[in-house]
Amino acid sequence: MKAKAVKITDGVYWVGVLHWNSRTFHGYGIPGTTYNAYLVFGEDKTVLIDNVYQGMFEQFDARVKDAFDQEGREFKVDVFVQNHSEMDHSTYLKETILKYNPDAEIYASQNCANYLQQQYHNFSDLEINVVGTGDELDIGGRTLKFISAPMLHWPDSMFTLLAEDGILFSNDAFGMRLQELNDTGLINDIKMIAPCHGQIWTDPAPIIEKYSEWGSGVCKDKITVIYDTMHHSTEKLAYQIAEGIMSEGVEVKMFFMQEDGPDDVITDILDSKAIAIGAPTMMNKPFPRIGNMMYWLDCVNFKGTGSEKDALIFSSKGWGGGAIAKLQSDLESAGFNVSDTLDVLFVPDEDVLSEAFEKGAELARSIKD
Ligand code: FEO
Repeated sequence: MKAKAVKITDGVYWVGVLHWNSRTFHGYGIPGTTYNAYLVFGEDKTVLIDNVYQGMFEQFDARVKDAFDQEGREFKVDVFVQNHSEMDHSTYLKETILKYNPDAEIYASQNCANYLQQQYHNFSDLEINVVGTGDELDIGGRTLKFISAPMLHWPDSMFTLLAEDGILFSNDAFGMRLQELNDTGLINDIKMIAPCHGQIWTDPAPIIEKYSEWGSGVCKDKITVIYDTMHHSTEKLAYQIAEGIMSEGVEVKMFFMQEDGPDDVITDILDSKAIAIGAPTMMNKPFPRIGNMMYWLDCVNFKGTGSEKDALIFSSKGWGGGAIAKLQSDLESAGFNVSDTLDVLFVPDEDVLSEAFEKGAELARSIKD
């Protein structure tokens, strides 16, 4: 297999892989993905940072070899840095070490070293140098600075800063919050962020600002409306609530859960000050796709960002009901403040539709600055 390494600056190459046909990861819908790994050439040592996922070794191997060809250097990896042990970045670590240089030095956090052994059961014969914040490695004209980053996003997460170039190898982070990074005072040293998925941020300022906003709960005058419907009754309520919100000049994002995915909903809730969520009642519970949505809302701790989001619940029922009570308890448990409900018998008439409009308008007024 042939695959070109991508030079991102002098002596630093992207040697990751393209997983063109990946459509889901951890339950999220995705349009393909990358597993990024990086090769750094120092005057004395060559460093491979992170690794790739199952089934991807040939592409990775070809790209690593191409980087050596481009540099005109002897094929020899002296140092392996593993910033995080999840399998999409570590599957071939042991194989790569054995193939490229069994005598190479290996650097990782203590948790990463533990997790590698617990996942692969074949690391006990390798010596892993445990590092964290304050530890450095001179590779000849270049310095790697290690930065402990637990829970950004696993307990083993670590960043590696290529100090002279200002390149931060952040692994999965930047799907996470950045406050902790701010606290280290390192922001001014970073000229490029090279994570383990997706694009390399050659101008990191905008994404640092975005993550700072997302992580600190900055929201807009915006309400996300989420609904599913059985015979269009709950849908009519959703539309009227949206009209009421818009009548107050507040932005609306609308999601219909028979067509839309929870990950897109979560993205819009992130900078919304409130939500309105509606489901028909079926077997005394909310419709299944709204139940699935509640699972995701429970997983994402919006309250942890400092953002207090109000929620309006609406539902159509035939007789006994039950969706409102279940959604209320689930939303409160997920950290939302349930500010209002609208429980409707069968098909909403004009009076009920007016009530839905007014509840939407009231929610909008309550969130406006
Ligand atoms: Fe991209 Fe935590 O793995």
